[in-house]
Amino acid sequence: MSRILITSAIPYINGIKHLGNLVGSQLPADLYARYMRGRGHEVLFLCATDEHGTPAELAAAKAGKPVAEYCAEMHEVQARIAAGFRLSFDKFGRSSSPQNRHLTQHFAGKLADAGLIREQSEKQVYSVADGRFLPDRYIEGTCPNCGYDKARGDQCENCTKQLDPTDLIDPRSAISGSTDLEVRETKHLYLRQSALKDELLAWIDSKTDWPVLTTSIARKWLTDGDGLQDRGITRDLDWGVPVQRGEEPWPGMEGKVFYVWFDAPIEYIACAKEWADANGEPDSAWERWWRTEHGAHDVRYVQFMGKDNVPFHTLSFPATILGANSQPGEDWKLVDYIKSFNYLTYDGGQFSTSQGRGVFMDQALSILPADYWRWWLLSHAPETSDAEFTWENFQASVNKDLADVLGNFVSRVTKFCRSKFGETVPEGGSLGPREEALIADLGERIAAYQAAMEAIEVRKSAQELRAIWVTGNEYLQNAAPWTVYKSDPEAAAAMVRLSLNLISLYAVLSAPFIPDAAAKMLDAMDDAGAPWPDDVGAALERLKPGHAFTTPEVLFAKISDEEREEWQKRFAGIRS
Ligand code: 2FM
Ligand code: ZN
Repeated sequence: MSRILITSAIPYINGIKHLGNLVGSQLPADLYARYMRGRGHEVLFLCATDEHGTPAELAAAKAGKPVAEYCAEMHEVQARIAAGFRLSFDKFGRSSSPQNRHLTQHFAGKLADAGLIREQSEKQVYSVADGRFLPDRYIEGTCPNCGYDKARGDQCENCTKQLDPTDLIDPRSAISGSTDLEVRETKHLYLRQSALKDELLAWIDSKTDWPVLTTSIARKWLTDGDGLQDRGITRDLDWGVPVQRGEEPWPGMEGKVFYVWFDAPIEYIACAKEWADANGEPDSAWERWWRTEHGAHDVRYVQFMGKDNVPFHTLSFPATILGANSQPGEDWKLVDYIKSFNYLTYDGGQFSTSQGRGVFMDQALSILPADYWRWWLLSHAPETSDAEFTWENFQASVNKDLADVLGNFVSRVTKFCRSKFGETVPEGGSLGPREEALIADLGERIAAYQAAMEAIEVRKSAQELRAIWVTGNEYLQNAAPWTVYKSDPEAAAAMVRLSLNLISLYAVLSAPFIPDAAAKMLDAMDDAGAPWPDDVGAALERLKPGHAFTTPEVLFAKISDEEREEWQKRFAGIRS
């Protein structure tokens, strides 16, 4: 048994996530966590909401709420939806937690002690009326390029030109509309990533088994142009982790907060402390996952994320960890494997939160149970390239894989048994060559499934699992116990007994993908604690003659053409 620490990229607080976000990190992370728990490993699976930065402030302002209140509410909304998708986090934390504040300040202090932080003066727009510096997107004005009068300080939405706030004609504050703006000098902290470039490159080069998507993005940032740039880690905002050097004030940095991308990954660590604190456990309980000298040397740490998050996880966060670890007593764990994903597109275009395009997590659950979505999303995960969601493809996969193959197997076996032998595992007969061949075949297929899961090849794992379901269906079709029963009821009983056991085996293997259906199958078999089938032959003889079961309701309802068309229409537009 080993210990596996799993984190999913932490979703921004500013709204409900779409299916593209879900399949890019949280869902595959859950698949892996469930699988590893199923194999008997000790797993700590963490996620949280990413609550700082301008997006949070802006979303709260739009909702007309104080930002802390907005974040608390949206955290509950996201937590509820995550539970609806059966995301099995051990803790769903908050980057605005006191634990994260403390750790973020701790890391900044250690980086400063290591000489890895420098100060830099910059010019930034200050709004006298608002009494604050304005981030680029808080400044509006007329675009010098196209004359659009609501261009933002970072970009003109109308002609897409990238702008500097000082380019805008008649600039004004997007908060108050005030034109009383001036350019003021402000000081910020920079993380000297450039000093760690060689160490980071050597580290990335040592990761020969990582997905190319992950390493290629990291290498590009490390070697393109002038190489890795230092990164500003503070902002002139009210909402965020106040800049402190550990427990001490940071002279000259009063009123500033850390940049959201500095504190967000540190929340992976803080979340473990939130988890321990919530359970009344001492610090040693979370430190054994995160600190190598406190027991984490043999933990395997795996991160899941979309490709846009890769630079922060391969460069900035490791720079934080490596930099801190150069100080006495600091022993933080570096990630062992980064699984990254491409994008999921929606019906020929992009999923978009800002434009409300696509299907959002709450909407998905309002029309179908989680397992339907989990199965489609995972079996079509955008691993080696972008993948496209279409309603036709979704309907076809659900109907074929879930209803026709798995659902049908369970239904046929249980109904046939009930009609001929009653709702107990029948006795009599013995296994013949056909069954021996099935067991051998399943043994090989399960080994392939396990290998794909261990390698976190999500699509391949789904294909292998489906092949395992198909194998059972083919066996049943060829063995045809309904025909055999007429001449040899004992032989038919042996076939049915094996097939009933196969339902339990399927449930255990399928649980990482479709946990609710798996639980229903085990419930029907009255076999809640069924173990992982390490020995297929033994697994198929576990439920003994006389063991009672119940015939389950339809496991998966097919999606009709009318439903598909209705949803297609309903989700064609833009969410307001
Ligand atoms: O892309 C996002 O949704 C970011 N909120 C991910 C942050 S992941 C990590 F740094 F915590
Ligand atoms: Zn313009």
